[in-house]
Amino acid sequence: MSTAPARKPDPGPPAHVAIIMDGNGRWAKARGLPRIAGHQRGSEAVRRVVEGAQDLGIGYLTLYAFSSENWKRPPSEVEDLMGLLRVYLRRELAALHRNGVRVRFIGERHGLADDIVSLIDEAENRTADNAGLTLIIALNYGSHNEIVRAARAIARDAAAGRLRPDEIDETRFAGYLQTIDIPDPDILIRTSGEQRLSNFLLWQSAYTELVFMDTLWPDFNKQNLAEAIDEFHGRERRYGATSG
Ligand code: IPE
Ligand code: IPE
Ligand code: MG
Repeated sequence: MSTAPARKPDPGPPAHVAIIMDGNGRWAKARGLPRIAGHQRGSEAVRRVVEGAQDLGIGYLTLYAFSSENWKRPPSEVEDLMGLLRVYLRRELAALHRNGVRVRFIGERHGLADDIVSLIDEAENRTADNAGLTLIIALNYGSHNEIVRAARAIARDAAAGRLRPDEIDETRFAGYLQTIDIPDPDILIRTSGEQRLSNFLLWQSAYTELVFMDTLWPDFNKQNLAEAIDEFHGRERRYGATSG
């Protein structure tokens, strides 16, 4: 009989990791650089973390890229952020596709520039049949908007006689959200030390483990992602039940 100590079974990677990528501005400010420099370095962190997520065997990675409230920023910063998104999609799409990544977007398309909407469509269509990591980019996304739009679509279906009000349950409701077919996040990471959700995945994160990290997003790497996952594995998820 083996005398080796019993090892805990490898819990495996979480199915879905969501990240609020925060701290680009503070990263730049600490270096006396313009905010755009922080966003540029932030987009390099995106590349690293997408690769890291693939290496770690994560199924779904959702990245909060631009919130429905981020339009309140100065127009020049909004334009810089949209410009970086254009560059990211143009440069990375081929590599993402080659690596079997399926790209999806959540958020309101209305309000985005036409060429960005075309890039989104192209990314989604080209990668639709890929079976590797699903990368979900939350762009012009806000949970309140998503939930209100779902309510509107449900009301429309009910008014048209396609749905009876008493048929609307949690599963049905979730089917009207943009995250249809995507499992709820197991873990939600926010970088930069801020501890709030900022209108991100409010419905979907009802039982998500929240991990707040001080690292500023431009410094974030695969090691930080692995640390967050370790922290997650140390948590006990009870879903309202008792321990054990
Ligand atoms: C995150 O960094 C990027 C976006 C919100 C688009 P910030 O730009 O919010 O950086 P801080 O919070 O000002 O440091
Ligand atoms: C949340 O970060 C949005 C994104 C990371 C895209 P913000 O920096 O906009 O959030 P607040 O304003 O600090 O809540
Ligand atoms: Mg911020």
